[in-house]
Amino acid sequence: MSDVARVVVGREDIRRRIEELGRTITGDYEGRAPVLISVLKGGSVFLADLIREIALPVAIDYMSISRYGGAAESMGRVRIVKDLEQDIGGRDVIVVEDIVDTGLTLSYLISVLESRAPASVEVCALLDKSVRRIAPLEIRYVGFDCPDVFVVGYGLDFQERYRNVPDILAVQDLAALTADPDLLRPFLPRSGPASHEETAAASS
Ligand code: IMP
Ligand code: MG
Repeated sequence: MSDVARVVVGREDIRRRIEELGRTITGDYEGRAPVLISVLKGGSVFLADLIREIALPVAIDYMSISRYGGAAESMGRVRIVKDLEQDIGGRDVIVVEDIVDTGLTLSYLISVLESRAPASVEVCALLDKSVRRIAPLEIRYVGFDCPDVFVVGYGLDFQERYRNVPDILAVQDLAALTADPDLLRPFLPRSGPASHEETAAASS
């Protein structure tokens, strides 16, 4: 359909994997009530789908951060723009991330959370760009390993756009997309590749 980007993880694979993650988390935290924390904005789409696959009385909360320069320049240090509303002291915390890249941001964030004396802190990331890791980090729950390419969709943005693309796309020509940010419009809901699948399913 387009040479600018291609689907690397389709919506049906995302759905199935999240169902598995939800089942695993449900088993691991049996009898407990974890707080799932999403870092705005990328992780919010994943969080919304993930919590509906967890059969536990979970709580959710959000944090918003801003980097001092790039992740690498700032060594991951961030300014907390919006903090949690809940006290996580004594709670089981699961940080829900869209993607872990260098890991610098997340490892800093984990140190901030750990200073508040939670019972535990684990990470659940939909995508793991493990080849790019700088900060050693244990990610307990991973959706998919991610190649070292720029990905967009399912919460991930290109210049604040395309978070609502239902599939995860690998951008193959970033220069072309930068020159014309409209190029990914064919991947938006009801215009993307899966509309063919829906048609096929409906007629079968
Ligand atoms: P890092 O792990 O500290 O390098 O930063 C991870 C953050 O960078 C993620 O939470 C995303 O917001 C962003 N990020 C990293 N890789 C990508 C990508 O391929 N597409 C969109 N955002 C990305
Ligand atoms: Mg993020």
